Parts: sequence; C-alpha cells; structure tokens
Amino acid sequence: MSASATRKLFVTNALPYANGPLHLGHLVGYIQGDIWVRFQRMCGHEVTYVCADDAHGTPIMLAAEKAGMTPEEFIAPVKTAHAQDFADFHVAFDHYHSTHSEENRELSERIYAALDRHGYIVAREIEQAYDPVKQMFLPDRYIKGACPNCGTADQYGDNCENCGWTYSPRDLKSPYSVLSGAAPEWRPSEHYFFALSKMQVEIRAWLDGAQVHDSVKAKLREWLDAELKDWDISRDAPYFGFGIPGKPGKYFYVWLDAPIGYFASLLAYLGGDHARLDAVIGAGSGYEMWHFIGKDIINFHGLFWPAMLRGAGLRQPTGLSVNGYLTVDGAKMSKSRGTFIKARTYLDVGLNPEYLRYYFAAKLGAGVVDIDLNLEDFVARVNSDLVGKYVNIASRCAALLHGHFGGRLAAQFDDEEGLRQRYHGGDTAIRYGYENREYGLAAREIMTLADEANGRLQSDAPWSLVKGGEAERARAHRICTRAINEFRLLTLYLKPVLPRLAREAEAFLGIAPLQWADAGKLLLDHPIKPYHPLATRIDPAQIKAMVEASKEDLGPSAKPAQPAAAAADASRLPPPAAPISIDDFGKIELRIARIENAEHVEGADKLLKLTLDLGELGKRQVFAGIKSQYAPETLIGRLTVVVANLAPRKMRFGLSEGMVLAASHGDGRPFLLAPDAGAEPGMRVK
Ligand code: MSP
Ligand code: ZN
Repeated sequence: MSASATRKLFVTNALPYANGPLHLGHLVGYIQGDIWVRFQRMCGHEVTYVCADDAHGTPIMLAAEKAGMTPEEFIAPVKTAHAQDFADFHVAFDHYHSTHSEENRELSERIYAALDRHGYIVAREIEQAYDPVKQMFLPDRYIKGACPNCGTADQYGDNCENCGWTYSPRDLKSPYSVLSGAAPEWRPSEHYFFALSKMQVEIRAWLDGAQVHDSVKAKLREWLDAELKDWDISRDAPYFGFGIPGKPGKYFYVWLDAPIGYFASLLAYLGGDHARLDAVIGAGSGYEMWHFIGKDIINFHGLFWPAMLRGAGLRQPTGLSVNGYLTVDGAKMSKSRGTFIKARTYLDVGLNPEYLRYYFAAKLGAGVVDIDLNLEDFVARVNSDLVGKYVNIASRCAALLHGHFGGRLAAQFDDEEGLRQRYHGGDTAIRYGYENREYGLAAREIMTLADEANGRLQSDAPWSLVKGGEAERARAHRICTRAINEFRLLTLYLKPVLPRLAREAEAFLGIAPLQWADAGKLLLDHPIKPYHPLATRIDPAQIKAMVEASKEDLGPSAKPAQPAAAAADASRLPPPAAPISIDDFGKIELRIARIENAEHVEGADKLLKLTLDLGELGKRQVFAGIKSQYAPETLIGRLTVVVANLAPRKMRFGLSEGMVLAASHGDGRPFLLAPDAGAEPGMRVK
C-alpha cells in the first residue's frame, strides 16, 4: 500500500431550511457526506466538515408570522433540533452554524462588494406582483390563477398541471395572491442582478476540471448551452435576510447568502480567524472543497455558486457529490401512509441510527439515482448482514475463546498469507468504493468477505473441535484467532458507516481506534474482552410503530415548537379538574401490572424505562418520571397500577405504551400506587 500524500479537505453538506424537522429523505445526503469524511480521516487526511441552518427567505418569514413569533424566535429551536438529529445519526460536523449570523452577514457583504467592484452587479427595474392586502411583493409561487391555455383554475405561476403549458405568472387569468386572495398588482421595483450571462466561459472551464458525476455535468452543460440569464439576487422588504448595504429596503435573496453560509460556518469554526479562512477559500487555496447536495439544487451549486466565487476572486469547488431522492416502499414519502418519517421518529421507536446508515450506504452509488427505503428489505438486510454475518463472527468465537483459551488469541493461525492476500485485494475495492462514493460497491465487497469468514467458520466448526484432543483444541484456537482477525478487518472497513459499533468492537478487541493503515496488521497473542451483544436484530414491531407514529404526526404535534415562555407556562399546576361522568371514567382502562424490568434511560434525568407484564394484555414498555425516588432494581417484581388504554406516545427515548400511576404534590416526590397483596397482573381496576 502506498502512503499517499496528506490531503486537506473542506467538506460541506447542503444547509437544511430552518422551517421544519429533518425527515429520512434529508438524511441520505448527510449520511453520505459523513461516511466520506470519516473515510478520509481514517486514511490520515485532514478534513474540516461544516454545515448550518439555512434561515432566510419568504417561506420562513411567513411561517414565523403564522406561529406568532419573530423569525429569530422561530428559527432557534429548529436549529437546535437539526443539530441534535445530526448528532444522533452520527453526522459529526466540526461546526454547525446558521446563515442568520454575523459571520454570514459580513461574508455576504464582502462577496457582494467584490462582485460589484468587478462589474458583475447590474441594477434593473422589473415589474413584480404585489399583494396590496399583505403589502408585500409576491414570489412566483405565491400567485395562482387560471391557465392561459386551457383555463384550469388554481394553477401556479409557472406551468399548468393540467395541460403542461409553461408561462409567466403575468399570463395567468384571474390571478390571486395565495396569502390574501387579493388580485396582485404589477408594480415596478429596482432589483440587482448577478451578471451570469457574462460568466458562461468561466463556468464551463470550471466544470471541465471539476469532479462532478458525468450525468450532472451533462445536465449543467445543457443549461450552459441554452445560455444563462442574469440572476436576480435582491428582494424587497419585508424580507427575512440581510439588507443590501447602501440600498434601503433591499435584501439579499436567500440563495445568495445560503452557500456563503458554508464559509460563515467555517469562519465561526476557526474562531473568526480571517487569515485561516482565506487559506481555505482564497484563490490558490491548498484545500479541496467538496459540496454534498441533493439533485434539486444542482443549478445553484453547479452554475451560480462557482460563478459567484469566480467573480469575487475566490476559489471554486473541487467537486460536487449529488444524491438522488429517497422514496419509501417505492413511492414518494406520504403523510397519510405514514412513510413521511421524521429523523426523530425513527430514533424514538428505538431503531439504531447506524442501521439506517448501513442501509443507505449499501444502496448508494456516485450517480444521481433515487434510492428506495423498502421497510421490509431494511429489516431483512440489517438483520442478515450486520447481525447474522458481521457480528455473528465475534459472538461465536468470543464464547469459545473465553470458555477454552482464557480469552486470548493464539500466537499464529493457519494460512496467514492467504488471509493477507484476500484482504489486500478486498481493501483495494473497498477503498475505491468509499473514495468514489460508490458505497454500495464497498458494502458488497465487505459482505462477501463476511460470507467467506462465516462459511469457513461453519465448515471448520471449532465448537466441535474444542471437545476433542489437544491437537484439535489447538486447531480450534487458531481457527477462532483467524476469525477474530477477519472480524477486526471487517470492523475497520465498516467503520466509516458504523462509527459507534466500530468503537464498541474496538473495545471488545482491546485495540486502539482503527485507522486505514492498520489493515495490513494482524492481531495475535492478544487478550480480548468478554463479549457483549454488539448489535441486535430489528423487531418488525418497531417499524410498525414508526409508521403509526408518522401517521399521528399529521395532528397538532406537527406544529413548530413552542417558544420557551409558552412551554414554561404549560408546566404550571393545573386548576382542579372539572367533574366527569361515570361514562367518562369508564373510558379509562386501569390494570394491575408487574414490573418485570426497570432501567435507567441514557440522557434522561427523570425517567425510568419499565417493562410491564399486564397478564392477558401482554407486555408493555412504559417510561415513568419516577427516577428521583426509585432505584430501578428496587422496582423489579413489584405490582402497580397502569393506564392500559392510553394511546402510545413517542418520547425522545422511545415509545411509551401506557402510564403507571403515582401520587405527588405537583413536581414533588412520587409515590407509586400498588395493590394489596394477592392481586395479579392483568386484573382490572375499577
Ligand atoms: N436550504 C437549501 C440548501 C441550501 S445549500 C446552500 C435546501 N434545503 S432543504 O432543507 O430543502 O434540503 C436540504 C438537503 O436535503 C438538500 O440537499 C436536498 O436536496 C435534500 N433533500 C430534501 N429532501 C430529500 C429527499 N426526499 N431525498 C433526498 N434528499 C432530499 O435545499
Ligand atoms: Zn392548462
């Protein structure tokens, strides 16, 4: 293996809009980017990986207004939630920023000023739709009307869903504002344009040398061949964004400052050090710059952005990685089918985030291909590949090594050279796959190696040999040693995809964090730790719960988070409840439950996770806020009273399928209710 020179990489992911939670579709590109970054780091390259919330624009301004908040109040909790989702899916940005930040204002002004100085900004008066009731100019998508061609009502301002005709919003018959219903007026306004039409040659030259998938290059060349129009980069007040210096009432269009947000995040990461920023973003930078984006924003990153950078005298992207769209069970994500799944919902039902990373990786290639999350296939694939193949090797051998050989690997094993050669070949393919974002190829090669290791283990059957004589036992020891070495290499190869599982496997093996250069080494005469299950199978019930919970999301809980003040208010003591009828009471099904298990919940300071036995009603998982008073082990075996027909609730830590009853003064210490001796699980409480 040649030790290639250290590369310096600046890597970004598209900045998610700060107007709602992340869904599984978003995660495709972020997981793709994170895997690449982890791979590069394992190879010893220096990577800076940033992202941010994209906070500006009309939709966010209007959403905030609707929620009765200032835009700043609206975007803050969204950003926090995004950052938490990324962290929980192990998407490990070095920094997560916001486009609504001082760094971004400063850099947007700087880049705009440079474009202006170099003659790339042109002022032009345009006529734009104006909503006289809302008193604001309307983006095209906020105007509807009847198709000028076929007359179909309620069509958007660009094309007709019925006949496919394309036109401009001005051509609509009986146009109206989506916001107020009023007929828009056409009013003049001075706008500022970025002279893209002057940049055709420069963009083409950049594209020729850029690392961009052929299909994306073809699309971009098509646009370039069709000639580029100047790009309107200003908007009129009211607008949530940055004011254009010296132009009162004019704002930068959200897509001008959004990609600059990559640099703003980097600047914040560098503690505001402009010299270090310029070493990355200046012309002649010694860094590669890679943007991971989805297919719907190719024009912004493949035309406007490289042109802006060039016009401002800055470096241009080294490469773009473009992901296709996610479908679930073969169709567009759908709220009514429960396949519009939030990242958080996936976590809440207790699914392992790394399983989704693995599934996406196994399906991802470098091309712009939509990928399908088939829920049944997801369960089968994860259970078979990760649990059945990969982890299985460790669990089988660890038991034998600890049961018969003091938990220590043999000093050598048979055919070490054969293993080296096989894995050296595999290594080349796997590295190629990761480097070129053909993760599916890498995953296939890794699973082929895992199949081979399992096949050999199966036919060598060390579990029979350990029952034999000394020579047979020694052979069993060598067989397990080889298998553990294969497990170690598989761990290394899966590490960009499964960082946490890899960390646990490293702990089990008692080794330092694996780097790519470790692929050539063997682990011999070395103690391993007792085996704890590294991965467990997906229970199809979790998938069902996730789909159900996603259906519920259509309800009021889908609203944006409440501001802190309102949330605090809601936790005050309620007034005494109004009387209810006996029928109302009859709706509540109370049952006796036996606490089968109780455990702490990582990251929760009030909750315990209880497994309840409800007799004829079966088992339930319930989260109870009683941690302050009860040590989990003291609860096991106790009887209590549970609301058995409470609709399951998604909590941050998982699904809660009921509620145990406890008495308390408001937030005071809880007293768990319990029946007299002799009661049995499942009994009805009346
Ligand atoms: N704010 C812009 C990006 C600005 S970058 C300077 C934006 N935000 S987004 O929230 O709509 O999307 C964020 C990323 O998720 C984009 O790369 C987008 O292509 C991607 N995806 C959004 N929905 C997706 C799927 N259903 N499937 C795969 N990727 C998806 O665009
Ligand atoms: Zn029409």
